Amino acid sequence: MSLQEKLEALKHETLAKIEAATDLVVLNQIRVETLGKKGPITEVLRGMKDLSAEERPKVGSFANEIRDALAEQLEARKEVLEQEAMDAALAKERIDVTLSGKQMPIGTRHVLTQIMEEMEDIFVGMGYQVVEGYEVEKDHYNFERMNLPKDHPARDMQDTFYITDEILLRTHTSPVQARTMEKHDFSKGPLRMVSPGKVFRRDTDDATHSHQFHQIEGLVIDKNVTMGDLKGTLEVLMQKMFGEDREIRLRPSYFPFTEPSVEVDVSCFKCGGQGCNVCKQTGWIEILGAGMVHPNVLEMSGIDSTKYSGFAFGLGPDRIAMLRYGVNDIRDFYHNDIRFIHQFKGE
Ligand code: PHE
Repeated sequence: MSLQEKLEALKHETLAKIEAATDLVVLNQIRVETLGKKGPITEVLRGMKDLSAEERPKVGSFANEIRDALAEQLEARKEVLEQEAMDAALAKERIDVTLSGKQMPIGTRHVLTQIMEEMEDIFVGMGYQVVEGYEVEKDHYNFERMNLPKDHPARDMQDTFYITDEILLRTHTSPVQARTMEKHDFSKGPLRMVSPGKVFRRDTDDATHSHQFHQIEGLVIDKNVTMGDLKGTLEVLMQKMFGEDREIRLRPSYFPFTEPSVEVDVSCFKCGGQGCNVCKQTGWIEILGAGMVHPNVLEMSGIDSTKYSGFAFGLGPDRIAMLRYGVNDIRDFYHNDIRFIHQFKGE
């Protein structure tokens, strides 16, 4: 077989292989085997030195022709295979944007959290700071610093979960009063704070009692703070919570840490004071306890009660939520029944 015939045969054989190649790896192998340094074409070109002077250019240009033709076919086939690979990948990764989506259920903040945040916002708007206290508290702060020494009969008002003789689950948020007062620097201005959180009492759970519930404590201390400031503050709060037309009234009461102490009622938001099922036909709803901070409480926290005075109050978010949303059983707030909780979607 002459060199030309060999090259011709090689061309046909290689073209067939290129045509048959179905992936890029195989195609590259064919390229290396045929056109590479150790391939047959290079070999032919190398053997040219043994040819006669007139044969040499003919064979040379023929070999080049075949090499170019093969290179061109390899390139063309490569493009086809690359396109096929791309089409396959696109087909596989295709996303049908018209398919209907999966529903992602979005949770809601607990209704009590919503109520507490709403009230915090109102107080922050009036220049109060929001302070967090401890749910596990010392007897010292929960009772003694609130003017309730160990043998004080009014301790019975709040049945207590004791952990040790000195450590307990706080029965109210009032200990935060003492903790905040003793730290406050009055050279920087008056003390105005609210403190929301959980409280605990050894009550038997029923529709209106829960061994765990919530309070928001409020405390303002400055020079010349009066009962009028207390009344005005609580009136604004009630109007923001229950509507502009609300009025409040104060009734005498007793707490060891305030003197005088009051029970605060708000005019019924449902009937406007006519009497209905929400206000038990009285026109008024009992909503919170409050009073002027007892001088003993001020003094025990290092505040001069001849110079400073203040008011304090304790609100129940559970009760507010029950009234506002007509919830009849306080336990509903704590059973985590999603059907109940989801009714309060908030904003
Ligand atoms: N700590 C009182 C309670 O739990 C409420 C209260 C707070 C009353 C502040 C007066 C002043 O019942």
